[in-house]
Amino acid sequence: MFIFVLLFGGVALWQAGTVIYHLWFSSLAKIPGSKLAASTLLYEFYYEVICSGKYTRQIERMHEKYGPIVRISPYEVHIKDADFCVEAFSSVKKLDKYGWWYRVFGGPGATVSTEHHDVHKSRRATFKNFLSPVVVRDFVPTIVEKVKQAGLIMSHHAHMGKPLCMSNLYRCIAADTVSAYALPASLNMLDSDDLGEEFQSGLRLFFEAATTMRFLGFLQPLMMMMPDLIFKRLLTGPARSLIKLIRTIQKPADIEKSRPCLLDRIKTNNYRENGDFRERLLQEAEQFIVAGTETTGYALSVTTFYILQNADIQKMLRQELIDAEISLNDDIDIISLQNLSYLSAVITEGLRFAHGVGSRLPRVNKSSDVQYHQWRIPAGVPISMTSRLHHEDPQLFPEPLTFRPDRWLQPDSKRLRKYLSPFGLGSRICPGMHLAFYEIYIAIAYIFTHFDVDNNGTTKDDLISAHDLGAPFPKRDSKGLQVTLQLR
Ligand code: HEM
Ligand SMILES: *[C@@H]1O[C@H](CO)[C@@H](O)[C@H](O)[C@H]1NC(C)=O
Ligand SMILES: *[C@@H]1O[C@H](CO)[C@@H](O)[C@H](O)[C@H]1NC(C)=O
Ligand SMILES: *[C@@H]1O[C@H](CO)[C@@H](O)[C@H](O)[C@H]1NC(C)=O
Repeated sequence: MFIFVLLFGGVALWQAGTVIYHLWFSSLAKIPGSKLAASTLLYEFYYEVICSGKYTRQIERMHEKYGPIVRISPYEVHIKDADFCVEAFSSVKKLDKYGWWYRVFGGPGATVSTEHHDVHKSRRATFKNFLSPVVVRDFVPTIVEKVKQAGLIMSHHAHMGKPLCMSNLYRCIAADTVSAYALPASLNMLDSDDLGEEFQSGLRLFFEAATTMRFLGFLQPLMMMMPDLIFKRLLTGPARSLIKLIRTIQKPADIEKSRPCLLDRIKTNNYRENGDFRERLLQEAEQFIVAGTETTGYALSVTTFYILQNADIQKMLRQELIDAEISLNDDIDIISLQNLSYLSAVITEGLRFAHGVGSRLPRVNKSSDVQYHQWRIPAGVPISMTSRLHHEDPQLFPEPLTFRPDRWLQPDSKRLRKYLSPFGLGSRICPGMHLAFYEIYIAIAYIFTHFDVDNNGTTKDDLISAHDLGAPFPKRDSKGLQVTLQLR
């Protein structure tokens, strides 16, 4: 009995000591913010794990209360100041990612979760050129093919007079495109009966589990000990086919293909790197699918939703597309399509609302302290920012919650672009953005040229992210963007 009291007392004392240290003796003690958030990680745990991805919204409220700099945990500072963040996160800087935050995404082998700047640089170099606009342009006919395949599904629904879930359809276009580009073969989710419904719930589970593991990382070794047989049963169908696909590129014959897929690139370039290379390849592949699917699908859904909200926008968009007479077949002139000013404004405004990654992006400056006004943040302390907070700042974007493509058609809109960062900032900016742009331009142009689209009762709440878990997820019972269609 006595031993328990002693143990319990010891733990309690230790905890109290830690809290006292965080509140009064930590080098971050003077940074404004809630005392509770500063004293224990349980505060963030509550919002991220118990409430499932709600900390971003809470951080927003803390900024309203405490100003542009807030200590959001015992260890981390968040800044809401677009000018400062754009400067501090920009590409010449050799910033690290915050390992604790990122390690749960895709494992240590994936580029996205690589902590150290130099390791990241060498990993990213292996596929950087492969995702450049010029190289991705050769892939445009495949994107057109996927969008046309989706068009057939839409026609079918139009004939049947049945509503269609565009969120699912867009997610499938995105998944099939990115897998066709990065892997030896496409996931072909447009062929699936449920249009990726299962994949979506699997992805949600993945992000929820990742968020939880961030706090319960000490359990990871236990999970690794789980027998393969049980583990495989937990995987969803698409996850299993993903692993199967990756296994197939282990066969040398595939490397002889005319267009090496992205993974071949990484493979041939990285033979020299130590470690279990196959495992790393798997993690890179997983990352491309995860990073390229929900983000692109979400941007397309949100953009479509707002086009449907406003008949004038839909009319102007369609008129511009018809007047331009750009072929939407294999011979599509993607440069001219991207040159259409109203289409571009609609897509840019869509990305302002979609902000692919709704959560904060934490970085670490290891080499020196960072000064923000009167506050000094010591070297090594993670500093994070959230793009959405810039995108919805009325100082930068008047009436931020109104979808107004024309804000991008003003003489001074170049200045605004600086504050738009749906793809992140700096050396860690999204390398898939050109692929994503081509997909979005082609899909929006194709759909609004060929169909009359009507919203079938979808509200903002069905779409807007309610849970920021790395990727944005709407409320749990959302049916996504439901539309009715008519062929034009
Ligand atoms: C509209 C679509 C997309 C949006 C909004 C988006 C957004 C982002 C953002 C914000 C980041 C930075 C994350 C961070 O700083 O932690 C990122 C990274 C990344 N994205 Fe995307 N993304 C999109 C599409 C894609 C596609 C299609 C691919 C696949 C080719 C892709 C692959 C990646 C990868 C590999 C990274 C990690 C880069 C690195 O750490 O160096 N993304 N994306
Ligand atoms: C770290 O912060 C200092 C001070 O703000 C800045 O001068 C330096 O460029 C930063 N280093 C990196 C790698 O961003
Ligand atoms: C882009 O659009 C402008 C007018 O908006 C036009 O003068 C120019 O020729 C176009 N460029 C291409 C490559 O289509
Ligand atoms: C949704 O579509 C169905 C079938 O076309 C139609 O009966 C219903 O009225 C539509 N609902 C809304 C809210 O548009």
